[in-house]
Amino acid sequence: MDVPTDGLCLALETSCDETAAAVVAGGCQVLSSVVASQADLHGRYGGVVPELAARHHLEAVLPVVDHALRQAGASWGDLCLVAVTRGPGLPAALLVGVAAAKALAFARGLPLVGVNHLAGHVYAHRLETGEAGERVGALPRGGDGLPRPAVCLVVSGSHTDVCLLPGDGGLHLLGSTVDDAVGEAFDKVARLLGLGYPGGARIDRLAASGDPRAVPFPRTLRPLSGPRGGGGPTPAAGPFAFSFSGLKTAVAQHVAMRVAATAQSGDGRRHHGRREAAPASDAPPGNAGAPALDPAEVADVAASFQAAVVDVLVERTVRAAEEHGVKALLACGGVAANSGLRAALGRAAAERRWGWAVPPLRYCTDNAAMIAAAGWVAHRAGRGDGWDLDADPNLPLEL
Ligand code: KG4
Ligand code: ZN
Repeated sequence: MDVPTDGLCLALETSCDETAAAVVAGGCQVLSSVVASQADLHGRYGGVVPELAARHHLEAVLPVVDHALRQAGASWGDLCLVAVTRGPGLPAALLVGVAAAKALAFARGLPLVGVNHLAGHVYAHRLETGEAGERVGALPRGGDGLPRPAVCLVVSGSHTDVCLLPGDGGLHLLGSTVDDAVGEAFDKVARLLGLGYPGGARIDRLAASGDPRAVPFPRTLRPLSGPRGGGGPTPAAGPFAFSFSGLKTAVAQHVAMRVAATAQSGDGRRHHGRREAAPASDAPPGNAGAPALDPAEVADVAASFQAAVVDVLVERTVRAAEEHGVKALLACGGVAANSGLRAALGRAAAERRWGWAVPPLRYCTDNAAMIAAAGWVAHRAGRGDGWDLDADPNLPLEL
């Protein structure tokens, strides 16, 4: 393979439980993207344990960097930039990546740039991966390589943001969640259903065999603020705010009610007359309290929960685009890997003859290629950081 040596950026990502490194040319061509996941480790505890995450990042970070360089066929002398996630994320986990990136950049005499993790998710739309993303229509791009103008949904384990990417650059946050992030809701519901951690992808898989209309879970659409909405969400949440804690509670109450009914009737595991459920003790680790419901019923709850989430996300994103006269929808972040969300956004865009795009699955969930893309754009715009670069666990979404 001819390795492009123009503008090679090495990027590191350690904001949560994935240790990732990537080499990307010109902020778009992915030469390597290595992700060492700690999901199995944290699965035992039903969620990410920050101290364990940091310790494992420390062990994994240099081997992962080596791997990324080897896979790209690049040497240190080929690189012209080191980019690293500086926030938001787990403080101790972020610090490992930031310290490693500083040491590597200093030792090799390379410029360093700290990257906002959420901006990284948005810049995943810049990557040319040669893999199937989903994209309809050639979307016009801005000077930073992002499809513009567009409305972009940023949905991850800790964030639910809808933002406007105006044609002439920048980003305006239009709304955020007022309580749980959507990925957090997926993970909590997965735990309630005894599916283990991380739960989003498991709910997604299970939902495919369930009935999305089986349980009419609430679609919590907080009133839009401003002249039409009156008395809407708190200003900090923006006019297009989301709320997922009520839905999570509705699922918890439904499951508790069904478990009680099942225990009373004694035949709940044959509720749908399909398969026998595995007893809770056979469930994967981290599933304490897993309900002994029929697997077909669990699939129905998963599908109904996912349908409620997707309806709300799509309604708000489309509404934001309409209000801003924008005809392109984007989604990114771990939850943008959800098959129901991808399909529904695609349908909503197709019905209106709008463009839409979602990155390939592995560039939706945490990775370092997206950090290289964002870092490259910042570097070209003259931004950079010194050896005093610090982690900032609470950075808000900004480009
Ligand atoms: O962006 P990400 O990888 O990490 C954070 O920045 O948080 O997002 C992780 C979140 C987790 O909550 C995970 O359950 C969720 O994304 N997720 C999914 C799917 N794949 C990952 N949620 C729904 N459906 C999926 N297929
Ligand atoms: Zn993320």
